[in-house]
Amino acid sequence: MRIDILTLFPEIVQGPLNHSIIKRAVDKGIVEICYHNIRDYTTNKHNKVDDAPFGGGAGMVMSIQPIDDLITKLKSEREYDDIIYTTPDGETLNQPMANTISTYENIIILCGHYKGIDHRIRDMFITKEISIGDYVLTGGELAAAVITDSIVRLLPGAISDETSALSDSFQDNLLSPPVYTRPSDYKGQKVPDVLLSGNFKEIDNWRHQQSIDRTKKLRPDLFK
Ligand code: ADE
Repeated sequence: MRIDILTLFPEIVQGPLNHSIIKRAVDKGIVEICYHNIRDYTTNKHNKVDDAPFGGGAGMVMSIQPIDDLITKLKSEREYDDIIYTTPDGETLNQPMANTISTYENIIILCGHYKGIDHRIRDMFITKEISIGDYVLTGGELAAAVITDSIVRLLPGAISDETSALSDSFQDNLLSPPVYTRPSDYKGQKVPDVLLSGNFKEIDNWRHQQSIDRTKKLRPDLFK
């Protein structure tokens, strides 16, 4: 899979993705993540990438020209399955959405900043608008990192234990069961006996019941 991330602040997106599982997936060639600085594409002689909104009002709007040139160039090089824009107006990211996107070959993620992008870019190119929650960030960069992380960890080979991604919280609309590791007794706090029993059928049953109980208690909205 190839992910092209278009941003005015590549370092913000790169930071969270340059570690651990995502970095290993990149190093193993499971995913190629290409960062593009939108500023490199401006034809403005002062290197400007934004301007005041028509009609007045506070804040700056990201200009159409550099984004148009960059997306047009990328689209001339390969086909994209989705051109995503990160915005609080978008559809809220969830596990089924991440699962679907993880099956794609090539995607673009365009990060908004300031007041947002000239709306004509959305009309011309954007096929999907994604929010990571009902709050406003200073820009779409952290959202792009969150979306990328949620997709890349699902790619075959990204997580060493293949069953691990499938047993995540939300994969079947249930939260994960509690997990424990050594020591089995820490200052008198004991790990549930069943996990030490070696009886894997009983352990599976216990975990499934814990998932159900925790979902009912913590996220009754998921439990239908
Ligand atoms: N940009 C600013 N806030 C955002 C959010 N909640 N989700 C996605 N992109 C954003």
